[in-house]
Amino acid sequence: MSSQSAVKRISLTTLQKMKEKGEKFASLTAYDACFAEMISSAGIEVILCGDSLGMVLQGHDSTLPVTLDDIVYHMRCVQAGNVGAFIMADLPFMSYAHEQQALESSAALMRAGAHMVKLEGGAWITRTTSQLAERGIPVCAHMGLTPQSINRLGGYRVQGRDPAKAQAIIDEALMLQDAGASILLLECVPVDLAAQVTQALEIPVIGIGAGPDVDGQIMVMHDMLGITPPSIKPPKFVKNFLPESSDGIRGAFVAFRDAVRSGAFPAPEHCFY
Ligand code: KIV
Repeated sequence: MSSQSAVKRISLTTLQKMKEKGEKFASLTAYDACFAEMISSAGIEVILCGDSLGMVLQGHDSTLPVTLDDIVYHMRCVQAGNVGAFIMADLPFMSYAHEQQALESSAALMRAGAHMVKLEGGAWITRTTSQLAERGIPVCAHMGLTPQSINRLGGYRVQGRDPAKAQAIIDEALMLQDAGASILLLECVPVDLAAQVTQALEIPVIGIGAGPDVDGQIMVMHDMLGITPPSIKPPKFVKNFLPESSDGIRGAFVAFRDAVRSGAFPAPEHCFY
């Protein structure tokens, strides 16, 4: 068997089976070949080429300035370094404002090597989700705190705290699953709400600041290495894994993976109640 064929390739089926067996999976952002290689070789199942690159690479104070060309460029770099992880790519701000545009933007990301596109929104992305899914493009719907809507939300705040908003998140998550979404990503919501959504959905739910009861955990790579630019205050749900690593950055990725698999991360201090 060649070393190439020995690489374990993670697919949507792998993630779906992990959910069914109650096994937690790990995910980190990456924007270049070097880190994509390190993250995937550490056994982290999912890489996100995220629009967070606008903040951690480009130095902006939001993700809004990121363009489709930016993500396509970084997506190509990530795909060149990846060793078997499942790769999601973000559709950036205003690249999926209408359905035709969403199809064209997604095609560009898939051609650059993405296995799935991620878009932010609830009920309003239902039709786009079904159109993409019907055309063979897997969709991750990003709900809860949606950073591309930061100006409408009024700040990086926990979402779904009041019962009506929590119910809306549950209802819209089910709507997106029915429309063909294959993964849901929940950002910055109370633990109980994330647990309810994860139970209600058949598809895997990835959380960031969503507590321990989701199927997978994701973090921005710079946050979990403690190298976030000083202008960005790391949120409560961030943990720096570098200090506990005896093998530098590679060791920090392995420590994150192990902490997610064992359920040690996130701990109560990283959660919203
Ligand atoms: O762009 C990104 O890094 C993200 C994560 C915060 C989930 O969307």
